[in-house]
Amino acid sequence: MDDLRDKYIDLIANAGSESALEDLRVQAIGKKGEISLQMRELGRMTPEERQVAGPRLNALKDEIASALAAKKEALANHALDERLRSEWLDVTLPVRPRRQGTIHPVSQVTEEVTAIFADMGFAVAEGPQIESDWYNFDALNIPGHHPARAEMDTFYTHRAEGDERPPHVLRTHTSPVQIRTMQEQGAPIRIIAPGRVYRADYDMTHTPMFHQIEGLAIDKDISMANLKWVLEEFVKAFFEVDDVELRFRASHFPFTEPSAEVDIRCSWEGGTLKVGTGDDWLEILGSGMVHPHVLRAGNVDPDEWQGFAFGMGIDRIAMLKYGIPDLRAFFDSDLRWLRHYGFAALDVPTLRGGLSR
Ligand code: DAH
Repeated sequence: MDDLRDKYIDLIANAGSESALEDLRVQAIGKKGEISLQMRELGRMTPEERQVAGPRLNALKDEIASALAAKKEALANHALDERLRSEWLDVTLPVRPRRQGTIHPVSQVTEEVTAIFADMGFAVAEGPQIESDWYNFDALNIPGHHPARAEMDTFYTHRAEGDERPPHVLRTHTSPVQIRTMQEQGAPIRIIAPGRVYRADYDMTHTPMFHQIEGLAIDKDISMANLKWVLEEFVKAFFEVDDVELRFRASHFPFTEPSAEVDIRCSWEGGTLKVGTGDDWLEILGSGMVHPHVLRAGNVDPDEWQGFAFGMGIDRIAMLKYGIPDLRAFFDSDLRWLRHYGFAALDVPTLRGGLSR
């Protein structure tokens, strides 16, 4: 029995593949295997002999079975190691210099803003760029006759002839995502919604497509004070300054009541913007407490819930932060501009790693 054991332990140790192992298993402990045949001999033994040989044979069978299993696992581990070695790829290798692209300032700033608000517990929400006029206007308390519809220089889509339904629009702001999020998630809510918006306008500071970021926080006891704190935290983190003064200017938006436009203290001394000190004020966003009509349109009960909202131009704050003079250049795809104002491709902005290194 010892010879049998040594033979198989040796063969198993030297087996080079799973199929070789399987052959050995059949040969040793398969139905007609050497050890199984020995077990059949037990019947012809005297009870005394059997009492000795039986347990030994069983133990041998178990030993062979576990040696097979251990070797099988070792072979699998070895195969995995081989694969990991051969399929290895160094993702840290630098891109070939000639093909090196850059991250567009709009993408960079969107990532920065997202990182800052994510840190305050805001999730990212999205909505379609082609919107029904209900989501873009009515639900936001802008009825059909409201001058805001005309002011926004809306792009309308065509309906087929005879189709009387109101046309879809290219969304003129990210505010419709407020309604969609309320309908989908219900209260409480804490989201930002970055994205493309469209208005028929074109000059130094306007392009027909541009980017906004919407903010919405709904809960039982949210106030303007929460709004102010959130915006202060945002501005400090975004402009990377320790202190900043915000000014809330009373304003009007149909979807908020009360409404405020928010300015930050700054200086333009020497032609460059400095945030936090100085005698100038820079308007950066519109905001307010969500109008009860708007909550209702989102199926949120205004007797139970309230909250704040804000809307900010991403391109505008990108121009301010990175000293980019002409908005139109954002969308020219001029490689020299992109190399100059673009950001390193693997430098993802995080609060811990630095936003704009
Ligand atoms: N939707 C507004 C616009 O595009 C911006 C805005 C103002 C959004 C106030 C808001 C808000 O959420 O509360 O001009």
